Amino acid sequence: MSAPSSSALLEADHLVKEFAVAGTGGLIARPETFRAVDDVSLRVEAGETVALVGESGSGKSTTARLVARLIDATSGSVRFDGHDVTTLNGRDLHDFRSEVQVVFQDPFSSLNPRHTVERIITAPLRYQGRKPPGGSRAFTQNLMERVGLDPMQWERFPAQFSGGQAQRIGIARALAVAPRLVICDEAVSALDVSVQAQVINLLRRLQAEEGFSYLFIAHDLAVVRQIATRVAVMSAGRIVEEGDRDAVFDNPQHEYTRALLSAVPRIRPEWETARRERAAERAALAAQSIER
Ligand SMILES: Nc1ncnc2c1ncn2[C@@H]1O[C@H](COP(=O)(O)OP(=O)(O)O)[C@@H](O)[C@H]1O
Ligand SMILES: [Mg+2]
Repeated sequence: MSAPSSSALLEADHLVKEFAVAGTGGLIARPETFRAVDDVSLRVEAGETVALVGESGSGKSTTARLVARLIDATSGSVRFDGHDVTTLNGRDLHDFRSEVQVVFQDPFSSLNPRHTVERIITAPLRYQGRKPPGGSRAFTQNLMERVGLDPMQWERFPAQFSGGQAQRIGIARALAVAPRLVICDEAVSALDVSVQAQVINLLRRLQAEEGFSYLFIAHDLAVVRQIATRVAVMSAGRIVEEGDRDAVFDNPQHEYTRALLSAVPRIRPEWETARRERAAERAALAAQSIER
């Protein structure tokens, strides 16, 4: 039996996000909309790692942005620690933003290239109007050490780091405000496999130390298997399957999940299409042979 809803750290209910898209023309111009997220409900308990998986364009990042209130939902609600955050503004939205942090795929586009590591890592605190405890430099150096960076490099700029190191800066920045939920949106997807393994280990260690939850978005199921406790599978804006990691990996219920799993370790849309076509062919042949 599932736990009562009040115990969830994050609870998204029937989230819908429609984007305006260019109309197809005609005499009467009318706004057209595209439903990127279509009735998504999602729970993340304290301390757990929920993976959101699905092919490119399935709505994972839009869901993440809705949950973090970086964009507003068309309808539906998000509750965090029992409080409705869908309608937060002003000071309350500020406070919520320190509880939920996002680590993005490309560190170099999510870190300001003209800011030093110190300025980057202390930015979320300053956004909160708070001073780094113990002083800005000591605070920065402590966080750099915790994420496996050389604390003497606090004055450097993002371009002076490798991709893996830059992603560690992004992780340190997320940790600066002691969040309770960290959303990793393809945070390790752009890294080389060996660097990826190191960053995954780091993410796991930090969670063990801090006890926060992850909403871990990835299209790579090999990565998800290493870190998730639960998995939600997204396709065309909807969650088509959700369950404990081992249940989803070992006994997938939905055809789309089986398709994703069969494409491990890397899913490419063109393979996916080819695979679907072959599966449809086989199904058609099987149906014919049954009829005969
Ligand atoms: N701001 C936007 N305006 C219009 N369409 C968008 C916008 N953001 C995302 N989309 C569309 O919504 C769909 C889902 O996008 P996204 O959430 O980024 O998917 P994923 O992260 O799973 O790859 C895609 O078709 C994308 O083109
Ligand atoms: Mg995305």
